[in-house]
Amino acid sequence: MTRRINCIGILTSGGDAPGMNAAIRAITRTAIYNGLKVKGIYRGYKGLITNEIKDFKTENVSNIVQQGGTILRTARCPEFKTEEGRAQAWKNMCEHGIDALIVIGGDGSLSGARVLAQEYDIPCIGLPGTIDNDLYGTDTTIGYDTALNTIVEAVDKIRDTANSHERIFFVEVMGRDAGFLALNSAIASGAEAAIIPEHLTKEDQLATFIQNGMRKSKNSSIVLVAENKDLGGAMHYAERVRNEFPQFDVRVSILGHLQRGGRPTAHDRIIASRMGAASIEALLDGQRNVMIGIRNDEIVYVPFNTAIKKDKPIDEQLVNVLHMLSI
Ligand code: ADP
Ligand code: F6P
Repeated sequence: MTRRINCIGILTSGGDAPGMNAAIRAITRTAIYNGLKVKGIYRGYKGLITNEIKDFKTENVSNIVQQGGTILRTARCPEFKTEEGRAQAWKNMCEHGIDALIVIGGDGSLSGARVLAQEYDIPCIGLPGTIDNDLYGTDTTIGYDTALNTIVEAVDKIRDTANSHERIFFVEVMGRDAGFLALNSAIASGAEAAIIPEHLTKEDQLATFIQNGMRKSKNSSIVLVAENKDLGGAMHYAERVRNEFPQFDVRVSILGHLQRGGRPTAHDRIIASRMGAASIEALLDGQRNVMIGIRNDEIVYVPFNTAIKKDKPIDEQLVNVLHMLSI
């Protein structure tokens, strides 16, 4: 039989993402609307272990829907990967009367929720909060749209100087192991190519770009490069061009953490609000150990095991669209 839930805890964990605040607000208010108590847990799993837990009322989430970052703060917490760390977290949760946990974060954070749920049989619900869009089973994640717009705004500016100086620019964007940000921002900014991890073993993407890209009438090029801890990202490709094609004038721009900040777009605020409300409805409906996703504009429940299996595929049609539009 499903246990009655009286009090939920909310935390944000891993890399912050614009729209996390809108999600915290929606979870808090939907929970209170349904007669539940709410506890805000600060600094992700770290705060669960160090007992940084506070009662949340509707006022705690006033005036935050438009703010980037997360009012609950976030952290990476290696101790939570240990049994001792999770035992301490569980003890604090029991003392605060938390009988269900809602975690907003990326695949690492949802892996943490999955293991806690398994060990202590507590209902956990995940919300996909990451600019990387790399969680399986949801069309988009909270923060992805804002980050895309930030990148496109930056690339529009880089285009001006690239044109003026007739240069190739390698613009490095985030994404961890996923190319969603690079590919879609390349399409949206009219870039000449995107170098994405999903195609690393399939082809020499730089050679393809040089072959296809440099034949055309344009005097400058922009290539979006997804960060890559093994290869070294944009720097690596710029170095290769300097060595292999010294006739080109090359520059690199690494956009870095500015991609994670800023006011969330309307789209991110709306999906965060919908997913936040849906997380409470899911709990009250007896759901546990699922991530809330949105597919074809409908709320879906994605089992943790599916959401975090790390193989959300890139849409090859988009690769083709970029290829055709950059002739
Ligand atoms: P993200 O959620 O953005 O992917 P991380 O991968 O850094 O970020 O994970 C955030 C936190 O989630 C980690 O610091 C750790 O506390 C927790 N976590 C990640 N993986 C696990 C795991 N396998 N078991 C327990 N906790 C985990
Ligand atoms: O997962 C979100 C993300 O922004 C990745 O795109 C990036 O690789 C990573 O976090 C950077 O994390 P940190 O906060 O440690 O710089």
